[in-house]
Amino acid sequence: MKALRTFLAIGVVVAVLEWSYVGSAGTNMPPVRLSIPYVVSRNDAVQDMLWMANVGKDDVVYDLGSGDGRIVIAAVHDFSARRAVGIEMAPERIRQSRENAQKAGVTDRVEFIHGDLFTNDFRQASVITLFLGHQPNIKLRTKMLSILKPGTRIVSHQFNMGEWQPDKTQTVRTVYFGMYGTIFSPFSENLCVPDYTGNELDPYEGDRIFMWVVPAPVAGIWRAVVETAQGQQNLQLTLHQRLSKVSGRFQLSGKTSLEGHANVDLWGNHMRFWCTPAGMPYGQLELRFDGHVHGNTMKGTLAVRDRGDLSQSQWQAQRDKVDYTGTWEWSCATGTRSVRLRIEQHDGHLIATYLDRDQALPVTDFYDFGGGFYFTLLIGRKANSVRMTEDTGWLIGKGLLENGQLKGTIEFYPYGDMPDMAGERKTSQAVIRDWAPRLIKP
Ligand SMILES: C[S@@+](CC[C@H](N)C(=O)[O-])C[C@H]1O[C@@H](n2cnc3c(N)ncnc32)[C@H](O)[C@@H]1O
Repeated sequence: MKALRTFLAIGVVVAVLEWSYVGSAGTNMPPVRLSIPYVVSRNDAVQDMLWMANVGKDDVVYDLGSGDGRIVIAAVHDFSARRAVGIEMAPERIRQSRENAQKAGVTDRVEFIHGDLFTNDFRQASVITLFLGHQPNIKLRTKMLSILKPGTRIVSHQFNMGEWQPDKTQTVRTVYFGMYGTIFSPFSENLCVPDYTGNELDPYEGDRIFMWVVPAPVAGIWRAVVETAQGQQNLQLTLHQRLSKVSGRFQLSGKTSLEGHANVDLWGNHMRFWCTPAGMPYGQLELRFDGHVHGNTMKGTLAVRDRGDLSQSQWQAQRDKVDYTGTWEWSCATGTRSVRLRIEQHDGHLIATYLDRDQALPVTDFYDFGGGFYFTLLIGRKANSVRMTEDTGWLIGKGLLENGQLKGTIEFYPYGDMPDMAGERKTSQAVIRDWAPRLIKP
């Protein structure tokens, strides 16, 4: 059954991944070569996408690759969005969208930009809609996370964002027809890497709609004072961030010295955490926070339960300011040589480059999360080629600066062999290690 499904999926993929050409009707532009075909979202899927993003009167909706304009028009017409904008490369689709907006009587609240969705600005959006493909989604996510405000909702029809797990998912029963895609990767079922497509396509189940909320950058070391039955204690919260997933540890020090995991839940800049010290009976001491993060300040309500007594107060914590620019060196996964990550400031943003022997690879998927960062990088594999070396695979890192030392995790997922037509995959072992690279240049 699995082989049959894989075969069917491959058949559909071949059909949709053909390059499409768009004529230059009505413009002086030469024909444009598109890798993302024109397939409309069915109207019920459009309604579901806008409903899932909870679009309302304060929203500015951008549809990237807007086709005939149906999502843009429905956003203002059916969901009362303040404004909606489509960015579309094909001139014929732009003409059609403007006609459709005229017919719907919404021309004053919609705009169609004839241009490239990868280079046009969409930072004004409070909601982004996508029906593009897995690779375009991955290509877009770094830009979306760096320019969109925390709390912005991103909805994608059918395609996910790799290991960035959606906050909401919906399956719509339908005959399988429309746009499907997959990438041939041994990691399509591996939730740790951007190749993950496991939840995208199952023609027997139907179309998927995914929604993500852009997370605030919260990684780093946070400090505050907490009132407990033993008096004031110092709290240190160490948070790592991997897209929307935040994990961490806490330490309480003063009259007592306690530590344990911090369980963190983040939606936009709304953060909640819950800390209970390791080794203590459940309920003896716990801290529960519910509030918001603005820059380097976290503010909200802290509830402290200490041996049955519950106190609740307005509370705030501050994040240490850090600078992790410089060149960081560590021993690569095979242990055969040193490799480096250079992090530098460029136009007010951090950019990173991976350095291995004489190679310098830009880390295009690099996320600065305030006091820490996360990156993914496919190394060793030449574009459009299946030539592999022992180093070919995903390198994934997260780190934060603690007392001048970068600390985190480095993961390497070697590609091994490509899957065969029956979907059989050979994967080599992943290497997951604690990471403490040395700073070799200030
Ligand atoms: C699958 S259709 C989706 C249309 C519409 N969003 C919907 O869901 O009904 C993708 C659209 O993206 C457009 N497109 C492809 N590459 C583009 C690019 N680089 N910039 C802007 N539009 C692009 C195509 O012309 C096509 O209309």
